Amino acid sequence: MSDYDERIMTPEFSGSDSDIEFSLRPKILDDYIGQQKVKENLDIYIKAAVGRHEPLDHVLLYGPPGLGKTTLAGIIANEMGVNIRVTSGPALAKQGDLAALLTNLNEGDVLFVDEIHRLDRSVEEVLYPAMEDNALDIIIGKGPSARSIRLDLPKFTLVGATTRAGQLSAPLRDRFGIIQRLELYTYDELAQIINRSAGILDIEIDKSGAEELAKRSRGTPRIANRILKRARDYAQVCADGIITKQTAALALERMEIDELGLDAIDRRVLKTMIKNYNGGPVGLDTIAAAVGEEAVTIEDVYEPYLMQIGFLARTPRGRMVTPAGYRHLGMDMPGQQSLL
Ligand code: ADE
Repeated sequence: MSDYDERIMTPEFSGSDSDIEFSLRPKILDDYIGQQKVKENLDIYIKAAVGRHEPLDHVLLYGPPGLGKTTLAGIIANEMGVNIRVTSGPALAKQGDLAALLTNLNEGDVLFVDEIHRLDRSVEEVLYPAMEDNALDIIIGKGPSARSIRLDLPKFTLVGATTRAGQLSAPLRDRFGIIQRLELYTYDELAQIINRSAGILDIEIDKSGAEELAKRSRGTPRIANRILKRARDYAQVCADGIITKQTAALALERMEIDELGLDAIDRRVLKTMIKNYNGGPVGLDTIAAAVGEEAVTIEDVYEPYLMQIGFLARTPRGRMVTPAGYRHLGMDMPGQQSLL
């Protein structure tokens, strides 16, 4: 890769197989655990496109971070039998960056754009004719003598990933033929992912250890794989090398991750809402300022899991901590005295 390529491309898929993250990623749909509906749909669309010898329609994947959007893009390319080029919205600073990528694609290739909601509007405009007509419009010259020429591009599949489809402009969203939402994973699915990763990394873990880690992964495979590696370190140094329920629990205690997977920031969000705002309702920006995190980070990273486990509710007047959230923190709800 040239220096130029390196700036606009994410080295993710050019990484060697020894790269751990890369080796844990399933390469085919059959090995991908969870997201049953997304998998079933993609399976049909891919088989249909392959049967017609056509590229797959453009795909938008959205949902909280760490759920496997990049992995799915790799699987799509693999199942279609084409190459994948990986980049991200913020890496494509200029129209020319995207034009360079598009003109270097081969027929049928997948172009994966992570964080596609962060594309500059002028760069996004280059995508419209590319997605719709496989064409690149180039302006030559300046001022009154400027004219536009149209270059043909190879047919390709754009796979865009974003944390929220609502952040995308309508013209861009409308150009995706396939839009799929990824959901947080169940404990059972996470335990399967942990066992699969443990097998690949040659980590010894028993059933109770996998279940314990799954419960604390906040519905997210990326977190499951991360805490699996830290629990292995702990088991190796402080125990007999095997991850059991007990070693998993002790390892996670050290990482300040509690029995339900909440980390220090999750707890800070809930405690701040309770202590400063009586548990809500309180606006997202107010919470963000009080906690010292960006509002989008709270909305995309922390809120989905807190809502999934029923600790936080969204109301028209703002966010509220639920009775279950109070109970988890061992705090009394206003107007409800502890019986102790
Ligand atoms: N590793 C990370 N995510 C995975 C998934 N959904 N299925 C299998 N392995 C994974």
